[in-house]
Amino acid sequence: MLQMSLNRALIFLGPPGAGKGTQANRVARRYEVPHLSTGDMLRDAVTRGTELGRMAKPIMERGELVPDDIVLGMVEERLSRPDAKSGFIFDGFPRTIPQAEQLDEILKRRGFSKPVVVEFHVNADVLLHRVAGRWTCSVGGETYNVFERPPKVAGVCDNDGGKLVQRCDDRPEVVKERLAAYERQTKPLEDYYRRKGVLEVVDGTANVEEVSRALAEIIKRAEGRDGHL
Ligand code: AP5
Repeated sequence: MLQMSLNRALIFLGPPGAGKGTQANRVARRYEVPHLSTGDMLRDAVTRGTELGRMAKPIMERGELVPDDIVLGMVEERLSRPDAKSGFIFDGFPRTIPQAEQLDEILKRRGFSKPVVVEFHVNADVLLHRVAGRWTCSVGGETYNVFERPPKVAGVCDNDGGKLVQRCDDRPEVVKERLAAYERQTKPLEDYYRRKGVLEVVDGTANVEEVSRALAEIIKRAEGRDGHL
């Protein structure tokens, strides 16, 4: 099979439950590039009980954003690894204007051309319903929804047999705070990237296959586009 190359940063922007992780996982497998979820990196640090994890845990449990310098340090370290040389997908990063500005510098320094930024558009009622039904594979990261996309066997991943788990920040009161944080701190990034001419929008309420097809079209259109931000 012909190996496709991404050779750039793909940035998925959207509120909690918009489907960023679901699609990032698929695109990463298709292009064989890393799926870089700052949420997953932070949850991993919490599970391992590192100093960073102990600092991030209460912030994440309240549904607030972890400070920019912490997240940027984590991302810089991750991008220095060899597997990030041919492109990568950011899921949940950047989330503030300072994170986006710093990322522009990092991409320039590493020789990457303009990123492709995709905003997943989904209304709040759908988001709450999706997050309430979300279960994630503890091995491969595949996401399911017990209402709409249940696994074949309850609690077990169809792909690799991994145990499915629920996130502790998916309680309704925490999700409301995460949505508020998105509106307050992350929504302004839509304008930031629109002004730079790199923002694309997908209808995140379409089904998973339809969203995947829309993303494949966007990535295809971006091939050959050059230049820095
Ligand atoms: P993070 O882990 O990034 O969470 P999030 O952005 O809130 O997004 P989610 O993972 O909840 O949703 P998603 O869009 O990936 O949806 P999914 O594909 O799972 O962040 C968690 C916390 O970490 C933050 O609150 C913050 O504290 C901290 N943090 C992380 N990054 C940070 C940063 N850069 N700066 C500062 N702090 C940071 O889908 C959801 C459900 O819907 C699933 O059940 C799925 O199966 C289903 N679904 C998906 N697509 C569809 C579809 N098309 N149709 C029907 N169902 C669908």
